[in-house]
Amino acid sequence: MKSIRTIMNTSFYLFMCATLILGCKENSTSGKTNQLDPDEILSSIADRLYGAVQSASSPRLPRSVEDGKVRYTSSEGWTSGFLPGMLWMIADYDNSRDWTQYAELYTKQLEEVQYLTSHHDLGFMLYNSYGRGYTASNSDIYKQVLVNGAKSLASRYDSLVGMVKSWDRPGKWQYPVIIDNMMNLEYLFWATRATGDSSYYAMALSHATSTLRDHYRADVSCYHVVDYDTLTGEPIWKGTHQGLADESIWARGQAWGLYGFAMAYRETEDVMFLEHARRIATFLMNHGQMPLDKVPYWDLEDPDIPNAPRDVSAAAIMASGLIELSTYVPEEREAYIDYAMEMLVSLSENYRYESASESFFFLDQSVGNKPKNKEVSIPIIYADYYFIEALLRLKQSQI
Ligand code: GLY
Repeated sequence: MKSIRTIMNTSFYLFMCATLILGCKENSTSGKTNQLDPDEILSSIADRLYGAVQSASSPRLPRSVEDGKVRYTSSEGWTSGFLPGMLWMIADYDNSRDWTQYAELYTKQLEEVQYLTSHHDLGFMLYNSYGRGYTASNSDIYKQVLVNGAKSLASRYDSLVGMVKSWDRPGKWQYPVIIDNMMNLEYLFWATRATGDSSYYAMALSHATSTLRDHYRADVSCYHVVDYDTLTGEPIWKGTHQGLADESIWARGQAWGLYGFAMAYRETEDVMFLEHARRIATFLMNHGQMPLDKVPYWDLEDPDIPNAPRDVSAAAIMASGLIELSTYVPEEREAYIDYAMEMLVSLSENYRYESASESFFFLDQSVGNKPKNKEVSIPIIYADYYFIEALLRLKQSQI
């Protein structure tokens, strides 16, 4: 009896393995295994989002859902630009409803951010909101806000360090630069195109070059934070703020880097950035702790894996970055697209935020700051932003 059960278990195991192997093979050769209908998902997001903005009593900026309640951010918080950015993206996608009035209304909440100089996230905040609004409208008013904001961001650049300072934490760090800051460079590149002032481009180029040199380890994983000596401009400390440990692999940081270097290549055409983005992609896609469904654990070195929380935001950012990268490397295009598709299928099938139909949020299970036990395994707005962007990029790449 025991041996029959063993044989049956073994047969089932072999059957499952064969199914998986065949599934992967089919996926890697045809890219058609995972059926993903971006329009179906985008329509569903649009319906929810439209209900949410229509029923909101005032244009507050949602950040997350905790204990079933929406938490909002002030306009000065780094996540303030994501909802306006989502509205501009959906406005461009869905012309069956009047999205522009809402996109403008929510974007206006960030007007004062153009003068913000207390941290580095003006790219996330203004480029995602006013930047997308400017692309849609060509409004001179939007352009002026963006140019002022770029000046504010550039005020955090120090020519000795050659980078934009991320945070002001005297006593803890002298000149901290976080990997996330790669994402704010797109705004500086834009500022040179918009104003003709090449200094923004030069700052972004220097920042990206220094990040490649200082944030990355030999295995192409990256540190979250590098602190610089303000007198010498040299790195004096490398570690983490939101990851598990100084030497661990914080998933969202890896995703910011992948996305950021693909973007830096687009803006500069410097193959050094392209090669780096490809190396990051190879590292992440082949990492032994990447789960089968390709939604990363929040930190790839959490000893609780496989029971550690996933970070849906890291998956969405990585998928969007991979799709962009796929457009620059014909020989890896299919592998990147297939991988991103698998991520997007997983997200849309297994990580949806189940709530009332009207909601600013579509995806669940992101992790904000696990070491501080803040925002663990909840919906967070930037996951939705990059999810929408990835779906739109996927549609674009299939044309
Ligand atoms: N930029 C902050 C974060 O990724 O949590």
